[in-house]
Amino acid sequence: MNKQKQILQLINLVLKKKGYSSLKILFYERYLIGEIKKEKKIYFFKMSKSQNDNSKLINEYKSRALIKRKLQRNNKIIIDKLFKEKGFIKYKNKRLFYFISDYIRGRSFANPTVNNIKDAAKLAYAISQIKTPSSFINKKINAGKCIYTSILKRSKVTKIDNSFIQYAEKNIGKIKITFSHGDFSPWHIYKRKNNFILIDTEHSGKNPKYYDIANFYIRLRENLKNKKFANLFIQEYINLLSSEEKTTFWSEFKPVLIERVIGSLWEIDTNHFLGKGVNKTSCKKLLNNILYKDQFLN
Ligand SMILES: Nc1ncnc2c1ncn2[C@@H]1O[C@H](COP(=O)(O)OP(=O)(O)O)[C@@H](O)[C@H]1O
Ligand SMILES: [Mg+2]
Repeated sequence: MNKQKQILQLINLVLKKKGYSSLKILFYERYLIGEIKKEKKIYFFKMSKSQNDNSKLINEYKSRALIKRKLQRNNKIIIDKLFKEKGFIKYKNKRLFYFISDYIRGRSFANPTVNNIKDAAKLAYAISQIKTPSSFINKKINAGKCIYTSILKRSKVTKIDNSFIQYAEKNIGKIKITFSHGDFSPWHIYKRKNNFILIDTEHSGKNPKYYDIANFYIRLRENLKNKKFANLFIQEYINLLSSEEKTTFWSEFKPVLIERVIGSLWEIDTNHFLGKGVNKTSCKKLLNNILYKDQFLN
């Protein structure tokens, strides 16, 4: 029996013991994800496939709980109650893989309205204001170096002009750090009534300032091909900044945005699932406009 089949059999066994029946289970990137059912309710679950990825999933759980607590207290933004279950699944008393499960509800921002965009900007700003507890992973990061290293790494696969690398290197010192969702994308935000649900927070923690903004912008513009709303998002976000932040916004945002566009090019070149349907010419044009013309809102 192959390894995948073995894992599936084990998962089905463990889920059955917990009272779930499985509707579908997929091997998805680093995780097993699926839909499971218990007492007529359908749940989403995510489970790491190797011991190495347990820490990321534990981070997903921890940061979602933190974001819920902080946003509710500081900004009165309500994040829905999350996680019906979490913890290690055990087999023969051995801790195997970390598992989280979540009751599926709400409508995602993948098909956004103007109000969704305004909400997304508010959420992103509120998340950036969170003070990162010392217990979080990636405590000691140099944000500028992260951006530079990422561009350098991706340039080994994706052909880009040397000037992008030089620009990132020159601006290492400019980039600050904030708390961030880490993969702030329209399809990771759900809303039900007035409550928000933020999913896929495995990369949450300290990140380069404006990383979430750049990511959301690119996902909306290039993956979902909604330039108009992508621009609206940036305008709404800038409106929330302090006057001091407004004056330095572009110089701090620019290298981070460049890294995110190069990230998209890299996804196309490596056949990553997020690169599917993304237009290379559009990304390249955007990249040049950002660096050489200091413009992207067109
Ligand atoms: N609570 C949830 N309710 C409904 N769908 C979900 C939920 N969590 C995840 N999904 C769906 O599964 C996909 C993959 O989950 P995600 O947490 O983003 O995993 P990954 O880290 O592999 O991207 C999401 O893009 C979304 O479509
Ligand atoms: Mg995801």
